[in-house]
Amino acid sequence: MRLLLCAWLGCAVSLCAADSKNPLGNGPQVVEAGRTVYNQTCTVCHGVDGDAGDRAPALGAARRYAHNTEEDIFNVVLNGIPGTQMPSMGLSEEDAWRITAWIRSLRAVAADFPPDGDVAAGEKVFWGKGECGRCHRINGRGGLLGPDLSNLGGGMRLSAIRESLTVPKPHVPLGFRPATVVTKDGRTIRGVLKNEHNFSIQMLGDDDRLHLLTSDEIASIERGETSLMPTDYDKRLSETEFRDLVAFLSRLTKRAAASE
Ligand code: HEC
Ligand code: HEC
Repeated sequence: MRLLLCAWLGCAVSLCAADSKNPLGNGPQVVEAGRTVYNQTCTVCHGVDGDAGDRAPALGAARRYAHNTEEDIFNVVLNGIPGTQMPSMGLSEEDAWRITAWIRSLRAVAADFPPDGDVAAGEKVFWGKGECGRCHRINGRGGLLGPDLSNLGGGMRLSAIRESLTVPKPHVPLGFRPATVVTKDGRTIRGVLKNEHNFSIQMLGDDDRLHLLTSDEIASIERGETSLMPTDYDKRLSETEFRDLVAFLSRLTKRAAASE
């Protein structure tokens, strides 16, 4: 059943935490311990947190290493890659497993390696102080201006979730361009542009309703350059609130429903 589910979800078997051979498990503490050992041992080539490095690839570079299994990673971490710059660092097997868990977490979606945190408290931040529910919907509850987040943890990497909350995207994604339209009969509609054709637009208003407007009806249209998505949550929220929110978001997945 577990295998079937993995196949059905289309995830590489190596990414399904359930099939792991790691004797220490892949829990948040193991992942965090792996990050620590890594940062004490390997940054010289792969950079802090595996982000970069002039001398070696970024360890989260999923595209380059997409097909590497857990075993492949473990062997590389323990023994290096003969004939390349990648050395054996003389780690214990346990430390190699810790680092392996952490590297896999970099490449997997958040729900496969969800971080520690108070999930219930994070949910409160979502609907409360963070006001996320004004614009986002989870399982039918919440606003429509932003993307539905019901499967966020099942589809996005942890690093990308954190970035969504703290770093503006270079371009506003299609379908989320903010705009203000004034109609000839004097109405002002604020929201995001869903579709634009030569003679008409579809706009989702901040009243969560879809407005269909023909060019005859429109007096003026002003398009915004920055997304409605706030990206200062690392400042707006306390460190604990941010951690709990990310713990909650990482566990948003449609998988539980799929296995029923
Ligand atoms: C002296 C520089 C250097 C150090 C130190 C180093 N690496 Fe590497 N590593 C490399 C290079 C170069 C590659 C790319 C090798 C290739 O494929 O050509 C690499 C590749 C890798 C890969 C890719 C293989 C895969 O299957 O994903 C992993 C994982 C890795 N290193 C982990 C580590 C870890 C963990 C440490 C610390 C214990 C470490 N490296 C220390 C240079 C280094
Ligand atoms: C004022 C409306 C608004 C609020 C409030 C808001 N968002 Fe967003 N969010 C958006 C819009 C619009 C997008 C899509 C455009 C973009 O990515 O910049 C978005 C994108 C995102 C994404 C990326 C999703 C993807 O599929 O790429 C995440 C994750 C996210 N928001 C989470 C949150 C969380 C968590 C909160 C509360 C802490 C929040 N948002 C608050 C409007 C909002």
